[in-house]
Parts: sequence; C-alpha cells; structure tokens
Amino acid sequence: MKKYKWLKPSLTVSLIYIIFGFLWITLSDALLLFFVSDQETYTTLQTWTGWFYVIITAFLVFHLTSRGLRKVMQQEQEISESRARLALALTAVRDGVWDWDVKRNAVYFSPRYYEMLGFTPDEFPASFEAWRSLLHPEDKKRSEAIIADYLKKIPPQGIPDTFSTEFRLRTKDGNWRWILSRGQIAARDTSNLPVRVIGTHVDITERKETEEYLLQSEKMISIGGLAAGMAHEINNPLSGISGAAQNLNSRLLSDNAANRKAAQDCNVSLDAVHAYLEQRQIPRMVQGILESVERASTIVKNMLAFSRKTSRSFSYHSVEELLEATVQLASTDYNLKQHYDFRQITILRNYEPNTPQIACDGNQLQQVFLNILKNAAEALHEKGIPERAPEIVLRLHTEADHVVISIEDNGPGMNDAVRKRIFEPFFTTKSIGYGTGLGLSISYFIITNEHKGEMEVTSSIGNWTKFTIRLPVHNAELTKQQLQTNETLLDT
Ligand SMILES: Nc1ncnc2c1ncn2[C@@H]1O[C@H](COP(=O)(O)OP(=O)(O)O)[C@@H](O)[C@H]1O
Ligand SMILES: [Mg+2]
Repeated sequence: MKKYKWLKPSLTVSLIYIIFGFLWITLSDALLLFFVSDQETYTTLQTWTGWFYVIITAFLVFHLTSRGLRKVMQQEQEISESRARLALALTAVRDGVWDWDVKRNAVYFSPRYYEMLGFTPDEFPASFEAWRSLLHPEDKKRSEAIIADYLKKIPPQGIPDTFSTEFRLRTKDGNWRWILSRGQIAARDTSNLPVRVIGTHVDITERKETEEYLLQSEKMISIGGLAAGMAHEINNPLSGISGAAQNLNSRLLSDNAANRKAAQDCNVSLDAVHAYLEQRQIPRMVQGILESVERASTIVKNMLAFSRKTSRSFSYHSVEELLEATVQLASTDYNLKQHYDFRQITILRNYEPNTPQIACDGNQLQQVFLNILKNAAEALHEKGIPERAPEIVLRLHTEADHVVISIEDNGPGMNDAVRKRIFEPFFTTKSIGYGTGLGLSISYFIITNEHKGEMEVTSSIGNWTKFTIRLPVHNAELTKQQLQTNETLLDT
C-alpha cells in the first residue's frame, strides 16, 4: 500500500472539488429558483454564480496544492541536507560503507571502502565473495561465523541488533589492514529473514599495533626480570666450574715446580702423568669445559644487561656519528667477515640535517645498532633474494623532542609469528651455536629500559624488514645530574 501513498492527497483534492461543486450547483440553482422568477435575471445571475464558483475553487485549489507542495519541497530539502551531512560525516570519519542486498547477493562498497585498502573506487566488483577473498586466512572462520550467527538471530521487536567484528583485509600491495566492521539488518522480508544489511568499515590498524606493542612491553618486562634473576643465579655455579676447570688445567696439565713436587711425592713422574692424561684425552676435555664455560658466561653477561643495576654512562652524542661508527665497526667485524662480507651490502643514508645530539650511553646504542645491522646482514646473506642487490637503508629524523632512527633491509622479511617473538630472549630461528636469540632482546632493553625510548619492528614477508627506534633527546636523570654539577661549579 505504501507504494500508492502519493494518491491520497490528489484524491482528497479531487473529492473536495466534487463535493463543493455538487453543493454549489444544487444550492445556487435552488436558491435562484426560489428568489428569482424573471428568466433574464435568472440567466445573468447564473453566469455570475458560475464566475464566482471559478474564483472560489481557484482559491481553494491554490490553497490546497500550495500547502501540499510546500510540505513536499520542505521534505526534499531536508533529505538533501541530511544526505549531504551523511556524506560529509562519512568523509570526515574516513569510514567505508557497505550495503548488502542479501537476496540478490548484490553489494555496494563506498569509494572509501576501496581507498582504505589502497584500491581505486570500483577497482574490483563489489560482492560478498570479494570481501571473503580479501580476508586474512586466520580471521576467516571467526568473522564468517559472527556474521552467519547474526543473520540467523531474530531480535525482539523494536530492539535494533547490530553486529561487530574485527578482521584483517589484504591491501592492493599485499599488506594487511585491521578493519572494524559493524553492521545492522536494515530490512527483513515477510518471514522475518534479512534482505538488506548495511554497515561500516573503520581502519583500526594503528590501535591494534599499539595494543600489540603494549602487550609486548609488558611481556618483555616480566621476561627481562626473569632473565636477570636467572643470570645472577647461574653466575655463582658457573664461576665455580670455571675456577675448577682452570685449576685442573694448571694442576694437571701444566709443567711447574709445584706439580713436579707433588708427582715426586707420589712416586710418579710428571711426564708419565702427562702422557697418561694425553692418552685418555683429558686436556681436550678440560679445554671443552673451559670453552663451554666461556660461552655460558658470555650469555650470562648478556642476560645481566637486563638488570637495571648495570652502570650507565650518559652523555650527549650525535646519533649520526654513532650510526656511522657502527657501520664502520660492522665492516671490520671479524665474525661478520667470516660468514660474508658486510662491505658487499649497499648502505643508503637518509639523515635529516641538524638532528640534535641526544642524552644516551653511546656504547650501548652502538651495541643496539650493531645487533640490528648484523641481523640484517645475516638475513640478507642467508635468504637474500638473488636478483635483488642487498641493501640497508639508514634513516634519521626528529619528531618533537624525539629522534627517530630506522634501519631497513631488503632481505627475506619475516612472518607474523616470528615478528611477534623476536624481542624475546633466546628466540632465534638460527641454528644452535650460530644464533643465541639475545641480540634483539638486549637491544630492546637498552632502548626501552635504559633510554626510555621505543623500539618496534615492521616487516613484509619476502620484501623488507624495518626496525624503528624512537629516543628522547633529553634524559631527566642526566639533566638533574648536570644541573647539580653546574650548581657545584657555581658554588666554588
Ligand atoms: N633483519 C631481519 N630479517 C629477518 N629476520 C630477522 C631480522 N632481524 C632479526 N630477525 C629474526 O629475529 C630473530 C632474533 O634475532 P636476535 O635476537 O638478534 O637473535 P639471533 O640473531 O641470535 O637469532 C632471528 O633469529 C631472526 O629470525
Ligand atoms: Mg642477532
């Protein structure tokens, strides 16, 4: 019936016209016949009443149509205003809109829907399947289930029921964006099945990354505490083993006066003892113990870097100089050279001029840069893409009172599972004896704990890996110290 709504006002106007005309003709005729007997006067008066009728009805028609039209035009203006407002709001909030005709399986995607994913509007045909094909495999099952469940639900009358879900969609360049999708059934058919669903897409990638970053920091703080505690505990027995092994070395294997005397007291010659030990391969074993102890203490020493008790020596340094010194160091590093030549990698620099010097421990920062450069070199060497020349890009710029450093390589990149764990102590994808999995966890602690900065990694698998470090220019503790020294200088 809604379809014929426009008929009502027209019918009303016509009906009023008919009733009024009927009453006018019958009443005016009857009255004229009653009062006028003269035929000529009667005809004249009838012409006059005819004219009078035309004027009255013209007035009536004018009144009725103008009222109706005014209403319609007002509504039209309101609609176009609210349409413009909606369009404005959608551009302002940068949300994408989708409108799904469930029965015909036809979908409308707004231009922003495409742009959010790096496509131009209408670059791919709008359909439910198009959305599905862009979904991240890990999010597919969950998101589809949420929507299917929602469509099955029949809410109590009058309560609008919405659904909301978060998933990743593939962008044109093959990356992933986190999307918050919210929707609502806009129309149901007579058997209460949904026929139209409308909703929006919001890009929440940044929020997701922050959440992940916070989670990471928390995890690292607890793991860091554990590592430092463990290192302290292992340190004592390790010194015991190391001392004992060194004693074995000097008391069994060396040729000195004390050993000779002890052998003589026992009626054996030291040379015979040495020959026996040599035959039983004892020196090799002692050497093995010493080497293992050495490796373990390097790890323990590294783990101790997680404890806050390490002594810091903060002063102002130019980050550019530190970076350059580290690149120099990397190209002469013996361990690096052993596996491949760092100098074969092209180093590109993009330094913003006049970045301020920052309050930091220069040695510690160099250690961080070296760890990242080493990893990059290792990644480029291990799984570098043959047709691509190995390349590392160093960038440096200022952001408010922070300095931002990034180190990017065009190596193999890493998947999400690896990316989420690389700052964990002992997490490594390298073979035993080759990687300890400590480099990045120590770097992370140097940046976040010691320097109150931030460190994060982004990567595109098969394309690149980028480490970004954000460091405050000033350090509250150092400034305090400096003020104190200034004061003492003034006092004297
Ligand atoms: N530039 C990079 N490209 C690819 N993977 C990397 C890169 N840097 C680090 N990784 C990954 O992070 C892991 C942890 O690094 P790290 O803490 O330095 O330990 P290690 O180098 O001893 O394995 C590495 O094993 C590697 O899988
Ligand atoms: Mg490493």
